[in-house]
Amino acid sequence: MQAVLDYLKRNQARFVAELCDYLRFPSVTAQPQHKKDLRACAGWLVDHCRHIGLDARLCPTAGHPIVVAETPLAAPKHGEGGRAKNSHKQHFMIYGHYDVQPPEPLELWKSPPFAPRIAGRSIYARGAMDNKGQNFAHLKAVEAYLQTGTPLPCDLTFVIEGEEEVGSVSLAKFLKSHRAELNCDAVVISDTDIPSPKHPALAYSLRGIIAFEITVRGPARDLHSGVFGGAVENPAMALARLLAQLRDASGRVTIPGFYDDVAPLLAYERKQFARLPIKDRDLQKLLGVKKLFGERGFTPTEQRSARPTFEINGLTSGYQGEGSKTIVPAWARAKITCRLVPNQRPAKIRELVCRHIKKICPPTVRLEIEAGHGAEAYLVSPTSARARAALRALEAAFGCKPVLMREGGSIPIVNDFKKILGADSLLLGLGLPDGNAHSPNEKFNLDCFAKGQAMSAHLWQELSLA
Ligand code: BES
Ligand code: MN
Repeated sequence: MQAVLDYLKRNQARFVAELCDYLRFPSVTAQPQHKKDLRACAGWLVDHCRHIGLDARLCPTAGHPIVVAETPLAAPKHGEGGRAKNSHKQHFMIYGHYDVQPPEPLELWKSPPFAPRIAGRSIYARGAMDNKGQNFAHLKAVEAYLQTGTPLPCDLTFVIEGEEEVGSVSLAKFLKSHRAELNCDAVVISDTDIPSPKHPALAYSLRGIIAFEITVRGPARDLHSGVFGGAVENPAMALARLLAQLRDASGRVTIPGFYDDVAPLLAYERKQFARLPIKDRDLQKLLGVKKLFGERGFTPTEQRSARPTFEINGLTSGYQGEGSKTIVPAWARAKITCRLVPNQRPAKIRELVCRHIKKICPPTVRLEIEAGHGAEAYLVSPTSARARAALRALEAAFGCKPVLMREGGSIPIVNDFKKILGADSLLLGLGLPDGNAHSPNEKFNLDCFAKGQAMSAHLWQELSLA
């Protein structure tokens, strides 16, 4: 084990250079023109996995390819049909994604998003933290085992997909068709945040999500607002009024039944959260808001990880260009997502939301609601033997006591890991709250990168004892 840790220490500079190569691929899933870049990025990953000693292959899908890379089995494989029967070791999957969010607005980047730049202890690029840097830390830990000839106490399979940021549609199908081979004891995922490098964390919950678009239509075309304004409903006004009714003054969602199934926070959870280092003032500063805002009776930590939300993600209507244009717009549209918490069922909440919006929509406009993606929240025991093993690995690598936390973001595929493979996920994030995921100037902290590698190295030992 010491050989593994020494190897990691000795090779940091090369690892950072390799991570830069990985970050140069503009693997943006939301933009069809990047299909080739996603393929090239996956190809680079497969080559890299082979180079460090893994059995890797590129698995084509109807969408973007999935990279599957396994630690070599001690005994030769005979034919196909899953893992070698003679391996008595536990088998863990390491999940990550090589696709990234769009980098726009480009003018807000201090350096181009796909030209990685190192400044201080951070590496700046789209995907640096979400998620290339985090999955690369695990690859480097496994490289250290393979290249120092240190026996791994378990079998490992990397599954690095290319559609996470757009809903993981192909991976969900792939899990069903490769169930035997991907059958594993647990999944390890580094794709979340920790409060600070002094507060490594095991996240034991993720929020779920439902997405939809609301369109209200008024006149058959944009109208002269002087000639006709006053005699017709303005769709932008109608939509604004409708949306404004969906939360009360403290941010509580007013849709009847919305909170009915919400699992209450347990006393020990609230106590844990209160120990997290992020102060309200720091959060306010980090986010650049005038004042924090959220549901009464809950702390900001609770509000953003354990309470459901209703958010407008985009709002469009009328003239968006320079100067003024005097019209009553023909339509208005809002892109909405609700974050869900454990026990809320996405289909039920979607139904409640639709019914309520239809009920309060004024009769002067036509309403259309288009459903988007959805996923349940995730909750797993933070006290299982494997969770405790993960906590030991975190402490060994970061040199301080880890915290337990819930995450507000969503990783929908974890539900499929549970339903299709029967495997729980250990969420061991390496991101920091100021990492600018999905924002301009995304960055990944190089200490978190190094500590993440050490955490991974310790984890395989600890999990194999658990
Ligand atoms: N890595 C994030 C998820 C995340 C980030 C969870 C920080 C917890 C803390 C992931 O890449 C992501 O952005 N997920 C999307 C999922 C959505 C598109 C269904 C999200 O949460 O918005
Ligand atoms: Mn993301």
